[in-house]
Amino acid sequence: MITGKNASPVVIVIFGGTGDLTKRKLIPAFFNLFLEGWLPEKFQIIGLGRTELNEADYRDRLHEGLVEFSRTGKPADDKWNAFNSSITYLKSDINNEASYTELANKLDTFDKSIGVRANRIFYLSVAPQFIESTTVNLSKAGVANNIEQDRIVVEKPFGHDLETAKELNKLLTRTFNESQIYRIDHYLGKETVQNILAFRFANALFEPLWNRNYIDFVQITVAEEVGVEDRGGYYEGAGALRDMIQNHLLQIMCMIAMEPPISFEAEEIRNRKVDVLHAIRKFNYEDVTKVAVRGQYGPGWLQGKKVPGYREEQGVDPHSNTETYAAVKFYLDNWRWQGVPFYLRTGKRMQEKGSSITVQFRPVPHSTFPSVYSDTLSPNRLTINIQPAMDIRLRFTAKRPGLEMALNPAEMVFDYSCSTQAPEAYETLLLDAMQGDATLFMRSDQVELAWEVIKPILETWQSRPSIEFANYAAGMWGPENAEALIARDGHTWAVTSFHNNHN
Ligand code: BG6
Repeated sequence: MITGKNASPVVIVIFGGTGDLTKRKLIPAFFNLFLEGWLPEKFQIIGLGRTELNEADYRDRLHEGLVEFSRTGKPADDKWNAFNSSITYLKSDINNEASYTELANKLDTFDKSIGVRANRIFYLSVAPQFIESTTVNLSKAGVANNIEQDRIVVEKPFGHDLETAKELNKLLTRTFNESQIYRIDHYLGKETVQNILAFRFANALFEPLWNRNYIDFVQITVAEEVGVEDRGGYYEGAGALRDMIQNHLLQIMCMIAMEPPISFEAEEIRNRKVDVLHAIRKFNYEDVTKVAVRGQYGPGWLQGKKVPGYREEQGVDPHSNTETYAAVKFYLDNWRWQGVPFYLRTGKRMQEKGSSITVQFRPVPHSTFPSVYSDTLSPNRLTINIQPAMDIRLRFTAKRPGLEMALNPAEMVFDYSCSTQAPEAYETLLLDAMQGDATLFMRSDQVELAWEVIKPILETWQSRPSIEFANYAAGMWGPENAEALIARDGHTWAVTSFHNNHN
């Protein structure tokens, strides 16, 4: 996490430099860091891609991306010109050693021009099948073997299951030291997700209540309005469990459930998170139907527009068994959380976009008030909205002003939108990678444990195709079974509106 402005020169090498992520997320993030003075004075961004492009065309493409996707909008000409003079492009073939020799020359030339060996970040924004040849060739070219100065950032998907994740870890550690590997989970860079740590461990108020004695259940929802868009090819082999639960949602759960770390050191925080993954109760294959629900969207309506079902999307098998919705109930077998269910759910084409965490406290043990009022008493609830709303809400009960002793729910709200514009997740994470801070990145054991946790569900769903798909219409809150999953425990999903969360 950011601790101070960085001065060491850096070169960022982007494999997948002509790809969507570079244009949408990486370059806008670097540009905004540049605007705010977080990039060192001497830096270079080298985009690598298969396309034949001259430098000016490459920069124009990235400029288009900035105009469309940057949180700061169209860049001022002088700022853009000052930034883009540090961007170069190299037409390259990931599988061809000659491309790496050219890259090595470029890196040397930059180092010579500034008179020092710059730090190097190799950003792998490429399909998983290219990771092997990239790392092998980087190793052969000898451009990434300074343990202190060279880092590799690996985008998800990190493996396809436990076995492939292990293989990938083995492959990467053949060339790099674990301390050089930055496995990205962009949810960990979101401002509101990072704030969970501040909220829990910089306040004395909540931590004493943060356990099974006071908390009834926890829910984590990541709902998306978008469908599979043009990523059908990837998504068909992934599904909601792999795409979102294995990484983003489990990581959020770790931050909510972890023990207080002794320090803010990367390893300490990662160790505490790994403890949570270890504590997740293992379930048998027969239990999968009791703890997990899957869904796939059919055609429906969203924001007044008719939208197609998943099976009609581009690149999707018309008989696809891929889930676009997943809900899972977890228990943690440790002293703090014994018996407290954690409900995680995520889906595409849901009624509303919104990610939030709900911590529901137990009801008061005895009601002092006449039943006519106390029957409607709602237990305290803490809601942490991650996006698009960025706030923390604490629901409590208050007396309704008036002559009667009537009770009403009330809310205390801390709203981020009142403060300065929050940086994008990629800004935080790229800066951390440049500064060598791995706290918000996934260590190899974290990734593998997360795969292990979902393995029984993955395998059960794969071996037993759903006969119900499509089982929710686009624009709904997911399949009915998901309501049943939580209703069995006497609860309901907390969030019906992320903008007006009063249910
Ligand atoms: C990605 C998934 O990791 O996260 C996508 O692959 C998903 O399918 C995206 O849409 C959601 O991220 P965000 O930041 O838009 O909530």
